[in-house]
Amino acid sequence: MPATPPPQTYRVKSFGCQMNVYDGERMAELLGAQGLTAADEGAEADLVVLNTCHIREKAAEKVYSDIGRLRREDGSSPLIAVAGCVAQAEGEEIMARAPAVRMVVGPQAYHRLPEMLRAAQDGRRVTDTDMPAETKFAALPQRRRSGASAFLTVQEGCDKFCTYCVVPYTRGAETSRPFADLIAEAERLAEAGALEITLLGQNVNAWTGEDAKGRAIGLDGLIRALAALPALRRIRYTTSHPNDMTQGLIAAHAEVDKLMPFLHLPVQAGSDRVLKAMNRSHTAESYLRLLDRVRAVRPDIALSGDFIVGFPGETEAEFAETLALVEATGYAQAFSFKYSPRPGTPAATMDGQVAPEVMDERLQRLQAALQRSSLAFNQASVGGPCEGLVGGRGRREGQWPGKSPWLQSVHFANEPWGEARIGDLVRVTLVEAGPNSLHARLLAPVAA
Ligand code: 5AD
Ligand code: SF4
Repeated sequence: MPATPPPQTYRVKSFGCQMNVYDGERMAELLGAQGLTAADEGAEADLVVLNTCHIREKAAEKVYSDIGRLRREDGSSPLIAVAGCVAQAEGEEIMARAPAVRMVVGPQAYHRLPEMLRAAQDGRRVTDTDMPAETKFAALPQRRRSGASAFLTVQEGCDKFCTYCVVPYTRGAETSRPFADLIAEAERLAEAGALEITLLGQNVNAWTGEDAKGRAIGLDGLIRALAALPALRRIRYTTSHPNDMTQGLIAAHAEVDKLMPFLHLPVQAGSDRVLKAMNRSHTAESYLRLLDRVRAVRPDIALSGDFIVGFPGETEAEFAETLALVEATGYAQAFSFKYSPRPGTPAATMDGQVAPEVMDERLQRLQAALQRSSLAFNQASVGGPCEGLVGGRGRREGQWPGKSPWLQSVHFANEPWGEARIGDLVRVTLVEAGPNSLHARLLAPVAA
């Protein structure tokens, strides 16, 4: 490949989960520290990073079509880097199939992007999918900018090996970032304007560390330490595994005011046979009893989950158990997916793969049940006042979207006596509910 002039502008496109959004922000900061600037909306960037997701199928096809779309009329392309989980899982294949790609970098190696960029400018094509012992975080620049709501990755990787899932292969073993680093990063984010921090991890509640006095703590200890930072007003965490839901973390939901009343706790299915085949190591009953314990200390908690329909061998009666679990739980929101066989995972070669039309039909029924559940939850919140964090400007003048403590999307209009601004924490009354959002009236700003 010929040498290329140093890129001046970049664009990072992130797909998939919130951890990818976090990684995308950190890559952008890294490129910024190298003197590159973010390309304007609509303008072509000299360097494009595709930060990919591999959790469900068509991910790789999507990457190839994105690469194709970046091609210019004369056949040339900007510098392209493929990052994220597809890079980790299929790096070699991408290099072989897509000559326009100059860099392939896995989720644990992106701190090496600057070196890779220099090699790419010299005309080389480089792949780095190492999972090095040294952590990328130490090599990343300090955080300087933040919106009112920020992500903070505290834990990565997964040791659970659910039989359908690629994450243990693409993100590696469970690791926790050190306590002191996380407090320092949270302080920087708060200084830069973050009022709300969402702690992220594939198994965020498996986080462990040592506090400033050297005592072993879990995620609840980290949450309590973060709650002591005066500038931070709201703390959230996602995604949790039922088996790592400790009594300490449950108690934190009762005791830490800044910890928002929201819990995303995937269950995946309602049938114990299916859960066993998924290697989930919990039953439907143990999951429901766990939720009882959380509700006992925080009755208003909003629950969220992930579901897979059509896991190999799932019968109609087993699927009906998923519907029954949804009825029993009363989710505030949830994500539901058709099972997608992932190469290299045990479930991909199991007998009894379910026909696509059966999966479609089950997904529709599940989503209808989840919509009813969300609507009921939202309707039950109507009438009550709550705090909303203003997240941006609405489509109409004077309309503001925000998030309630229960992570509901809330829209409110300016009142004649006051105006909201992006990043404000405001007091609102919820007046009208739909399954996906609520309307609210602005009551008053909340004092800092
Ligand atoms: N097929 C469908 N859904 C999947 N998920 C993970 N792997 C698969 C798969 N192979 C879903 C799970 C998980 C969420 C992040 O994605 O529900 O909790
Ligand atoms: Fe995947 Fe299961 Fe680990 Fe979640 S807990 S990342 S679904 S293997």
